[in-house]
Amino acid sequence: MLTKKTIITLFAAGAALCATAKPKAPADMDSFIDNLMSKMTLEEKIGQLNLPVSGILTGDAKSENVAENIRGGHTGGVFGVKGAAEIRKLQDIAVKESRLGIPLVFGLDVIHGYQTTFPIPLAQASSWDMSAIERMAQIAGDEASSSGINWVYSPMVDVCRDPRWGRIAEGPGEDPYLGAEIAKAMVRGFQGEDLKDKNTVMACVKHFALYGAPDGGRDYNTVDMSRQRLLNEYILPYKAAAEAGAGSFMASFNTFENIPATANSYLLTDLLRKQWGFDGMVVSDYTGVLEMISHGIGDYQTVAARALKAGTDMDMVSEAYKNTLAKSLEEGKVSMEDIDRAVRRVLEMKYRLGLFDDPYRYTDTKREAATVYKPAYREEARRLAAECMVLLENKDGVLPLKGAEKIALIGPLGNSAANMPGMWSVPDADRKPVSLYEGMKEVFGDKVRYAKGCDALADAELEKKVSPGQNPERTGQSAAEMKAEALKLAAESDVIVAAMGELSEMTGEGASRANIVVPEPQEELLKALKETGKPIVLVLFTGRPLVLTWEKDNLDAILNVWFAGSEAGGAIADVLAGKVNPSGKLPVSFPYHVGQIPVHYNSMMTGRPMPEGVSYIKYRSNYQDIPNQPLYPFGYGKSYTEFEISPVALSSSEMAPDGTVTASVTVTNKGAVEGKETVQLYIRDTVAESTRPVKELKGFEKVTLKPGESKEVTFTVTPDMLKYYNHDLEYVLEPGEFEIMAGPDSQNLSKALLTVK
Ligand code: NOJ
Repeated sequence: MLTKKTIITLFAAGAALCATAKPKAPADMDSFIDNLMSKMTLEEKIGQLNLPVSGILTGDAKSENVAENIRGGHTGGVFGVKGAAEIRKLQDIAVKESRLGIPLVFGLDVIHGYQTTFPIPLAQASSWDMSAIERMAQIAGDEASSSGINWVYSPMVDVCRDPRWGRIAEGPGEDPYLGAEIAKAMVRGFQGEDLKDKNTVMACVKHFALYGAPDGGRDYNTVDMSRQRLLNEYILPYKAAAEAGAGSFMASFNTFENIPATANSYLLTDLLRKQWGFDGMVVSDYTGVLEMISHGIGDYQTVAARALKAGTDMDMVSEAYKNTLAKSLEEGKVSMEDIDRAVRRVLEMKYRLGLFDDPYRYTDTKREAATVYKPAYREEARRLAAECMVLLENKDGVLPLKGAEKIALIGPLGNSAANMPGMWSVPDADRKPVSLYEGMKEVFGDKVRYAKGCDALADAELEKKVSPGQNPERTGQSAAEMKAEALKLAAESDVIVAAMGELSEMTGEGASRANIVVPEPQEELLKALKETGKPIVLVLFTGRPLVLTWEKDNLDAILNVWFAGSEAGGAIADVLAGKVNPSGKLPVSFPYHVGQIPVHYNSMMTGRPMPEGVSYIKYRSNYQDIPNQPLYPFGYGKSYTEFEISPVALSSSEMAPDGTVTASVTVTNKGAVEGKETVQLYIRDTVAESTRPVKELKGFEKVTLKPGESKEVTFTVTPDMLKYYNHDLEYVLEPGEFEIMAGPDSQNLSKALLTVK
């Protein structure tokens, strides 16, 4: 046990070490860290690998004695705490009271904004606007860093083809190329030019790897796929994030090839470090090390040793490194090199963040007060939120609501401010998200009146469980009373705006659903409202694709607003009023039926393909009772205007293996209002050594066009776009014929043939 006197003496030594050995330039990093490590005891080294949680818990386990462990040098960082003052207190303990005064790193899940919240990541992906996504990450980083955070557990780049999985809400959707572009934009937004700038934060790319492909869409479940599929269909976003300079990665909970990712040296060392050259830090997920005991991989000591050896540097919450690595070293189960390697990566991370220069760089309370949730950011959030909404239907131009004098806002999500931001936001008590009703009153004034109409879920207990603290207040009214009130309001109105769908916590972590439809009481109410004959606009709240077959056929308009952040209320109202013309496009297919899952646009060619537009044929790859196509395809979204896209034209129909050609289309705004169209480029490799997808997204461009205006959009087709990982996992371009396709979504495409000689 250290006495108070020894602590003070050692602190003096620690402070002196950090004071005298201040790093000047990255070139000094190695010598600075060599010097620091030469002074560290084994216990202190292992301490750097320990990452407890404090404050916001995101799992069952909780870290105890956080302050005491910091003081004793048993902690490398803390996550879940926020607030400059709070974080300064913990940093003070590390810097002033631990023997070597090594500063802590502070992590937090800044998933879609900090206090100013942006749309959920799946919604951000719908913008197909990389500068908007970069900006959202930048603002989130500015706010979070002013509030003490220097490390964010984002971007989440898990490609997902199964909307039953609740965490599809947190990621980029079903496509690796779009996911990769988003990953780069977010890393740029968070990390900026220099990680030492006080308004930048280190990104943590997660969840490495394949967390988005659990069997049956059930969270934390097994992942099983070939390496070829991993490399061709899932890996690109992680790789792009690493290449963009992301400072850290998080190992995922799932297994790959029956080895948990946390202890999977193929993923963490061979792929990430040796093949991609990643030199940052890898952290486990929350109790990810401990959970390997339940995976059946070994006891507490064994799982810690396996994780460290495979390449997991920091142990989040399990305390397994802290409690067992010294013993494992003694017993030869890990080596000193294993420990030193991980310690160096943690110290390098702190060095890159400039924490050795100034451990308090992110704890300026004045900057925090001036930055967090400031009006300018909220205004930007409102504008950006509107960019992420996807107009799925708009029959007879019912939207925008131009002429309506009496608008009935009906539904359990119509006046629920708490449900607006979406899963995984970290609100302070004084952050006040705007409800849709408030937002609509601001834009439409007295024209809008509200009735709840029904509860979100029939089962009150389930509603509480899925949505802790956030379920819309139950009014105490009976279902019949609520319905009668809604029908009366509908009868007195010109148009119904139905605010319905999922509660925000029905997606996110631990939120898988099997039957992904609009919950029953809401669907029943929609059917009753339909009987009134009034036009119905469904404002759909959801964190995942839902099956909307009835809604598509029966409703006049469907505006998918996902969960659009703290300013969602105003942003939705702006779109309903036509102040903003919606331009979002789906980053994921909306299934026709749950039994179709997984359904995604880039499926593999089969030996018995189905001709398009034909119903069931025996001995073909299809269903007797539903089509193969999803209800709404990847890349789809309407606008208040109409666009025309000309057939794709190639600069040449032949290309050398090291050459390029261009593919161009002309887009014209044929309607009466300005709008934005996203032109998408897809490629199909018609003959290859291995079977290839029917099409793959390889480029996109979002253009703004005034009424009558035309623009040419040109893509350069490069050899890289034509390559893939063959059966031997070599990245190859095989000469031959390729189809080059362009259009407004993954189904409506014109095509030209390209031969690579
Ligand atoms: C578990 C989640 O899987 C991960 O995404 C998150 O960053 C950690 N908890 C920390 O909260």
